[in-house]
Parts: sequence; C-alpha cells; structure tokens
Amino acid sequence: MRLVLLGPPGSGKGTQAALLKDRLNVVHISTGDLLRAAVAAGTELGKIAKATMDAGELVSDDLVLQLLEDRLGQPDVANGYILDGYPRNLAQAKALDALLSRLEQNIDHALALIVDEEQIVARLAQRASEQGRTDDSESVVRHRLHVYAEQTAPVVDYYEAKGLLARIDGVGSIEEINQRLMDAM
Ligand code: AP5
Repeated sequence: MRLVLLGPPGSGKGTQAALLKDRLNVVHISTGDLLRAAVAAGTELGKIAKATMDAGELVSDDLVLQLLEDRLGQPDVANGYILDGYPRNLAQAKALDALLSRLEQNIDHALALIVDEEQIVARLAQRASEQGRTDDSESVVRHRLHVYAEQTAPVVDYYEAKGLLARIDGVGSIEEINQRLMDAM
C-alpha cells in the first residue's frame, strides 16, 4: 500500500501516519522529519534548508526530491509507505509521478485531512508551548497556511483528477479520524 497524506500544517498528517503505519505495516516518510533531521545533524542540506523552514517557506524542489529519492531507495519501503508532506506543489507531484514510474510503483490513495484555520492555529500554538518547534510561532503558522493555500491545495485537485482522492474530516479524536481514514481506503 502506498499512500499520500495531504492537508495543511497542523491537520494531523504526522499523528495519523504514525498510527496508520502500524495498522498497514508500511513505513512513514515525512519530508519535514527528514529535513529536520538534516538540520539537527548539521549537514550541508540542513544548513541550506534551515532558514527557509524557519520562515515557513518551501525548501527547493530539487533538494527535497533528492531526500525522497534516497529514502525510497532503502529496503524497508518494500511493503509500502505513507508520504507525509510530499508532494507540496504541482512540480513535486509531477516529479513524484516520474520517480514512481521509474520505480514501477504507483500511489493507491491520496487522503486529504480537512481542518479549519482557527483549529490549526490553536493546535500549533499548543505544540509551540510544549515542543518549541521553530516554525510554530503564530505569524509563521499563518504564513505556512498561506503557502499551503497557494502551492499545496492544487495538489489535492491533482489527485482528485486522477480519481485517487478522498477528503477526510480531520476534526475529532485522533482515533475517530484514524478510523475515517481506514474506512476511506
Ligand atoms: P512539515 O514537517 O511537513 O510540516 P507541516 O506540513 O507544516 O505539518 P505539521 O507537522 O505542522 O502538521 P501535521 O499535519 O503533520 O500535524 P501533526 O500530526 O504534527 O514541514 C515543515 C517544513 O519543512 C515546511 O514548512 C517546509 O519548509 C519544509 N518541507 C517539508 N516538506 C517539504 C516539501 N515536500 N517541499 C518543500 N519543503 C518542505 O499535528 C499537529 C499538532 O496537532 C500536534 O501537536 C498534534 O498532537 C495535534 N493534533 C493532531 N491531531 C489532533 C486532533 N485530532 N485533535 C487535536 N489535536 C491534534
């Protein structure tokens, strides 16, 4: 099973992917986590990405595609994966199609979590106070939402046109939402 999990910042992609990966016996691939690991490790890529991430902008398509391609080359993806945070714009969606075509793979489902903006701002304010993620300040969160609306929302339509999309209400308990995702598949 190969899934794309879509939704704005704070919609619960990472939370849901962590549960789905165990239920489906697949791996969870978050480009945000891969980038944060590169920043924490102080790699060249991490140094380039840090300021962009802190500002709530998208890191360059080439850098993220390279990270993803390396990750998809690892043996643990054989049983499938959940992509969380990729693709983030139409160019990335097309690059993913080209990469999957080379790998002779396809996406089974694209699931989009729907959560309203004020709930997102509240969730990420809570996370900012608990974890101090550098891009969770209110002004950066609002900018990330703007970037999502401009650049990532068209990706939802892209998968809809392919007949792969389900929209899921992302408000409720984590378990309820997880069941909605399973039911949609
Ligand atoms: P990324 O790490 O992908 O961040 P994001 O999409 O902004 O997502 P978040 O992690 O904030 O939210 P989420 O939807 O995963 O929700 P979560 O489960 O964490 O990207 C960060 C940055 O990296 C980007 O801005 C960009 O710079 C760069 N980047 C990443 N991918 C890229 C790409 N492909 N191209 C270019 N740049 C890229 O939940 C959020 C909070 O809500 C948590 O505290 C959680 O506990 C809580 N929560 C979850 N579910 C519920 C619920 N049902 N009820 C109440 N609270 C809940």
